[in-house]
Amino acid sequence: MTLKDKHIVLGITGSIAAYKAASLARLLIKAGAEVQIVITPSGKEFITPVTLSALTGKPVVSEFFTANDGTWHSHVDLGQWADLMLIAPATAATLGKMANGIADNMLITTYLSMKAPVMIAPAMDLDMFAHPSTTRNIEMLRSYGNIIIEPAAGELASHLIGKGRMEEPEKILEVVEAFFAKKETLDKKKILITAGPTYEKIDPVRFIGNYSSGKMGFALAEECAGRGAEVTLVAGPVALKVNHPNIKRIDVESAEQMYNASVGVFGDMDAAILCAAVADFRPAEQYTQKVKRGEDDLTIALTPNKDIAASLGKMKKGGQMLVGFALETNDEEANALRKMEKKNLDYIVLNSLNDAGAGFQHDTNKISILNRNGERKDFPLKSKKEVASDIIEEVFFSLLRPFK
Ligand code: C5P
Repeated sequence: MTLKDKHIVLGITGSIAAYKAASLARLLIKAGAEVQIVITPSGKEFITPVTLSALTGKPVVSEFFTANDGTWHSHVDLGQWADLMLIAPATAATLGKMANGIADNMLITTYLSMKAPVMIAPAMDLDMFAHPSTTRNIEMLRSYGNIIIEPAAGELASHLIGKGRMEEPEKILEVVEAFFAKKETLDKKKILITAGPTYEKIDPVRFIGNYSSGKMGFALAEECAGRGAEVTLVAGPVALKVNHPNIKRIDVESAEQMYNASVGVFGDMDAAILCAAVADFRPAEQYTQKVKRGEDDLTIALTPNKDIAASLGKMKKGGQMLVGFALETNDEEANALRKMEKKNLDYIVLNSLNDAGAGFQHDTNKISILNRNGERKDFPLKSKKEVASDIIEEVFFSLLRPFK
């Protein structure tokens, strides 16, 4: 019963995905939650209140008043009662109204009165989802502190294929469970995370880079923020979005920019997790014009970049924790241990290119965590989200080195 006694207001709007809200309500209730449904008038065109109230055991709220007896439904009371408001599915119209405070139905007034955190699972056709107004409304809602459960890509009700399909109820349940399970555990701790590759410019159109996707670092950032930490995420060039409002993202391109951003904030941090695949070298000189094809060989002299991890290791004060990553192709453990020592890290997370499904670009990873006592813990292949949780559990909460 992961959601035992949790009060959840489930908002349903007029999308074909409203049928999934019935399964979602059932899953939440099975996990122990009390669910009060608030549905918009157009939501009722897609799923009947009878179905929903039969599932939740509570009358569905939709209008400000109950027509036959004049009972007033208090959105203010719902705002106080809830531990979480979850709007799934959220249409483009509802996102727009929420972002702009257009309180013309019970769901929006409840949203505006909500004291509890709000999660939003958008659902719409791909073009509507990609429209700049939807993007802007979602960004606004994020900036208010709401948590967006991004839609998945796949076949939509229109038979078009793209992003816009409401996330599956089982996945939404996972997000809700994680939210309640981990809330406040890293309360207000300040954590720096570096993620992604760096690009080292050769000329205005070319660079030296690597295959890092940033997925592991972003999963760590979401995990820490989900547990209440204030995360500063210094990200190299990646095609990823952050969802949690407690993540402050600083986008950089080169190792030098990543170094400056990281060194600049580290003094204020309780911990840093250095997940980025930082280029070890950059072209000694950058061509100001695009290099032209020629008959002769082209030699580009490379000069070493500063090692961010080693620099932070030198700056590290008592109570600050430093975690590095190592991706090795040979002599994995010996190399990882050497790096931990040399860079003055407290932990090093080892992932190997030799394991199928682990490392760059994948959604999964297989890691080992090594500490300064020479102890090693091996984990099986898992999703990067689960791996992020394992790393945080081990690094911050293992008995070996409790987080101060
Ligand atoms: O020495 P190597 O690059 O393999 O070390 C990997 C660890 O050091 C990772 O945690 C990586 O983020 C960090 N690193 C860094 N700055 C560099 C190179 C690596 O922070 N210039």
